[in-house]
Amino acid sequence: MNVLLTGGAGYIASHTLIELYAAGHTALVVDNLSNSNPESLKRVAKIIGIDSIPFIEGDVRDRALMTKVFDGNKIDAVIHFAGLKAVGESVQKPLEYYENNMNSTFVLVDVMRKHGCKNLIFSSSATVYGDPAQIPITESCPKGHCTNPYGQTKSMLEEVLMDVHKADPEWNIVLLRYFNPIGAHKSGLIGENPNGIPNNLMPYITQVAVGKLKELGIFGNDYPTPDGTGVRDFIHVVDLGRAHVAALGCIEKKQGLKIYNIGTGTGYSVLDIVNAFQKVNGIKVPYSFKPRRPGDIATCYCDPTLAYKELGWKAQYGIEDMCRDSWNWQKNNPNGYDK
Ligand code: NAD
Ligand code: UFG
Repeated sequence: MNVLLTGGAGYIASHTLIELYAAGHTALVVDNLSNSNPESLKRVAKIIGIDSIPFIEGDVRDRALMTKVFDGNKIDAVIHFAGLKAVGESVQKPLEYYENNMNSTFVLVDVMRKHGCKNLIFSSSATVYGDPAQIPITESCPKGHCTNPYGQTKSMLEEVLMDVHKADPEWNIVLLRYFNPIGAHKSGLIGENPNGIPNNLMPYITQVAVGKLKELGIFGNDYPTPDGTGVRDFIHVVDLGRAHVAALGCIEKKQGLKIYNIGTGTGYSVLDIVNAFQKVNGIKVPYSFKPRRPGDIATCYCDPTLAYKELGWKAQYGIEDMCRDSWNWQKNNPNGYDK
């Protein structure tokens, strides 16, 4: 298939590109570079062994541009990664988050249907479960209250896409609810490249390890978890990339609307991750305990059985691979994609 990746220069999409090409697909990218660097695409091309990844710099909200993209290319399916994703920032800038994430999806889906392309994979998130009603989380678990505008956009967009499918069952839509992606491609050429001080755990750890930040603050050690720190379902970003290839299989089989949890099914605590990182990489990560971060939940991990049963996908990499590959990326690129 020829697949359009919106937000294709970003962290998850860049890893997905490699897996798509490995499976025999081709791709093109639209990205406004609001949270990415085109260097990622150059490196992806190098890893794949091709001259370049077809790339259109622009905004998915730009209807004229998106119409041109669909007029000029035969696109079989779209993976819609584009979106703003920082939870804390979304609380400060709700309008920007609602406007970008909602409108980009409205424009995309409308232009797709006008071009008869009704195959879509959407980047959703475990955040739609809110404080989950049950652990491990299955897809039948009710959605919960999202405590921030970012999470609201994911939850609302899921509803929008379900309605689109209901109104026109020709659509094949796969909602992938990602858990916590970390890690990097084993080449160390691509990885997560956050702007400013990282909000998420792993990039914070790697920036402490590389000496850019002094110490990790662990947000809360009084949760009802085995060691008191938060528990998450960390998944290697390469495994996550492969889940998109598996979801394309579902699209090819025209299965209508599908929803899958994409995680490993194992919960690791913040301290588990810090300890594994130190052990695997032989490097110290100074930390201290801080108060809980508002909006955080104690425990979040999934039951990924459905994805295995229906897509034949399951995560291959473990916590040590994730910690090793994250560090390999950071130590080889202390300033990310900036020189
Ligand atoms: P990312 O910021 O690295 O990638 C998103 C990309 O979208 C960026 O390259 C950005 O420049 C681009 N973009 C944003 N708005 C755009 C627009 N209007 N037009 C064109 N391009 C635009 O983030 P990521 O971690 O790779 O996440 C990809 C998707 O997965 C996002 O939708 C995110 O919400 C979702 N997701 C991420 C996580 C996570 O922890 N990383 C978890 C669950 C879901
Ligand atoms: N944490 C720290 N210190 C830090 C950063 C994080 O202790 O400096 C802790 C958090 O309190 C939490 C755990 O590490 O217990 C994971 O936090 P992250 O910020 O890495 O990830 P979250 O689980 O909060 O959220 C992430 C994405 C969301 C997505 C969600 C889906 O940021 O976009 O996973 O589960 F919705």
